[in-house]
Amino acid sequence: MKRLYLLLAIALVATLLVSCGPRPTPAKPSAENFRVVVIGKSVHPYWSNVELGVRAAARDLGLREDQAIFFVPPTEDVAKQIEVMETYIAQKVTGIAIAPSDPAALEPVMKKAAEAGIIVTTLDTPPVEGSVSLVYIGTDNYAAGRMAGEVMKQLLPEGGKVGIGRGSDTALNALQRTQGFLDAIAGTKIQALEPVNDKEDAARALELANSVLSAHPDLAGAFGVYAYNGPAWATAIKEAGKAGKIKLVCFDATTDIINGIKEGVIHATIAQREYDMGYKSVQLIYLIATKGKEAAFAEMGVKNGVIDTGVDVITAKNLKEYEAALDARGIPHEWTTKGWEPPSQ
Ligand code: BGC
Repeated sequence: MKRLYLLLAIALVATLLVSCGPRPTPAKPSAENFRVVVIGKSVHPYWSNVELGVRAAARDLGLREDQAIFFVPPTEDVAKQIEVMETYIAQKVTGIAIAPSDPAALEPVMKKAAEAGIIVTTLDTPPVEGSVSLVYIGTDNYAAGRMAGEVMKQLLPEGGKVGIGRGSDTALNALQRTQGFLDAIAGTKIQALEPVNDKEDAARALELANSVLSAHPDLAGAFGVYAYNGPAWATAIKEAGKAGKIKLVCFDATTDIINGIKEGVIHATIAQREYDMGYKSVQLIYLIATKGKEAAFAEMGVKNGVIDTGVDVITAKNLKEYEAALDARGIPHEWTTKGWEPPSQ
């Protein structure tokens, strides 16, 4: 009898463990019905590079084009991101990788997806703490923001006012970059102005850069937090006739940014590896779906729920080496340094 009770108790504990345990891993899809969706934040060459990564991964995995879907709204649009998530949850896709423009607002729908057995990951901009996102694939934005601040410190040893343009007041990558930058310049004579927010609208970013410049004729530097912010500052600075004088540090390495470096209006940029973010998002979801979470994490080197894609700090000095490194890895870029030489000092 005692033995029977013991067996019953074991069975009960086992049942409880199973029902309270982690969500069941989604059913292994056959290559036929595998579908992954990558949702970005705005229409921009930065996101086109992410899409190139998505396409390349799909090709390398032997997927059909319709098995790797890429979507971005025109500008920052949290409601649209939620709506698109809902659409693909209803279609029961295999996995969704999203760059949440507002992580708190996106979390409930990400949770809904996870509960429906969809593999949910994030890229480019991190989710809330304790999110259902299994892995964040992207830049360590706080560290990268600090790098930008360190570069600004070197460029402005005497200090001065620095304008900050960014595309979101909710996306964690914008907030963490700004914080890293502010922490790096703390205790120096650099005075950061209140960040201006264009909501990922490049035309608005230019208007805001122009208005900061005219409100502060003594502006010594500018920090462009998102990919189009550097070029927006560059245009405003050139129009004000202050190219080279106002020190400009920004993020990313799209064609207009590289041109800004070649012209000497952009002093440095923190280049993210957005192609890898797109590529690895598809690859990871595919591996989780086909081999299970543990094997996928081991294969992809997931550490504490993160795949840090890394950054490159680019100036006129190392631009040629940067291009050579991209070429060596087969990463496409429209710009070239052919026929251009860095200034001698
Ligand atoms: C950011 C993205 C943003 C993009 C805008 C990048 O620096 O990482 O989150 O959408 O700029 O073009």
